[in-house]
Amino acid sequence: MFRNIVMCYTNTELECQELERHSKQMETKIIRMDIGQMDKEALVAAGRVIREGGLVAFPTETVYGLGGDALNPESSRKIYAAKGRPSDNPLIVHIADMDMLEAIVEEIPESVYRLAEAFWPGPLTMILKKSDKVPLQTTGGLDTVAVRMPSHVVAQAFIREAGGYVAAPSANLSGKPSPTTAKYVVQDMDGRIDMIIDADGVEIGLESTIVDMTGEVPMILRPGFITIDMLSKVIGPVEMDVALLEVDSKSQPKAPGMKYRHYAPKGELVIVEGEPEQVLAFINEACREHGMQGHKTGIIGTQECRMLYEADSVKCAGSREDTDAIARQLYTFLREFDDEGVEYMYSEAFDIGEKGQAIMNRLLKAAGHKIIKL
Ligand code: TXA
Ligand code: MG
Repeated sequence: MFRNIVMCYTNTELECQELERHSKQMETKIIRMDIGQMDKEALVAAGRVIREGGLVAFPTETVYGLGGDALNPESSRKIYAAKGRPSDNPLIVHIADMDMLEAIVEEIPESVYRLAEAFWPGPLTMILKKSDKVPLQTTGGLDTVAVRMPSHVVAQAFIREAGGYVAAPSANLSGKPSPTTAKYVVQDMDGRIDMIIDADGVEIGLESTIVDMTGEVPMILRPGFITIDMLSKVIGPVEMDVALLEVDSKSQPKAPGMKYRHYAPKGELVIVEGEPEQVLAFINEACREHGMQGHKTGIIGTQECRMLYEADSVKCAGSREDTDAIARQLYTFLREFDDEGVEYMYSEAFDIGEKGQAIMNRLLKAAGHKIIKL
């Protein structure tokens, strides 16, 4: 029951009823896949599930995806139902070969070829004008489509077996952190989808960078591993959706999904920004107070402070300079706090380097924008 309450807060009543019907209805087959030695037969079977209109969760280099046939409106409808996601939030279409792009978009600007050459396969999603081949159910009613070519070898082989076009949001229940290991896909999706391909943990840990290529100047709608500088070096000026830059922005983000509450753990998360010693003292004191009231506490910090933090659960992402390690582990930490029943969480701010932007974007959302500046 609790599960459904969690999922429904962003949905209409009708969509929630749909969810009820779909929850825990089927047997979910879990298949193990060794990256070094892929099981061809299992991949063919997974591809067949997609071709026949079913759903398969699969690994990508960013996070696990929840895949369905992107060209089948019924598959997209099933994805929304399984995730408990509002159906105005468009899906990303995953392809494995450049030849597949032409059929699903109206036109391909020169700059798209250049970005593809530089970053595909990889953690970059491009928004383009869609062709009639892509149903509106997949694009949440928009006349544009988001396309990504993942670099994960299992994802590529699976997409090819599935017919070439796999629509896939992250494989979490709507509102929860994106899954970075199959364990969390099972936690959210067992009984709701046909199959889960388990290929251990992912490499990056945060969702792809989304760049809208339909306007005069390309615009980043979601920051990620591919940064604005990396894009600009290839195609010249790139803008950032202003709604992403300001913490208290009143403007609506341009990617429909970015407006929803996201990545949220069950307990309360607060980000604390300031000089490291001050942050450490503040967080320890806050945890001590919650502890005295009998609450379970958690901290996300860096290696530098590991030994000095005092809470029921202390998670350290590695060194402060190692933004890749922080990105890779952030969602796992949030999920672990849930598993451990942590009620009050504090995190250091990670606004460091260019990759820090993507980390802070997710962390702020997980914290419901609660940030204390010391
Ligand atoms: O790394 C990723 O991108 C992962 C893996 C599975 O590939 N996928 C992922 O999908 O994060 P999802 O559905 O969780 O996030 C897709 C985001 C949403 O915020 C959605 O609103 C936005 O992309 N989006 C999709 N199509 C769009 C479009 N045509 N215009 C604007 N935003 C779009
Ligand atoms: Mg998502």
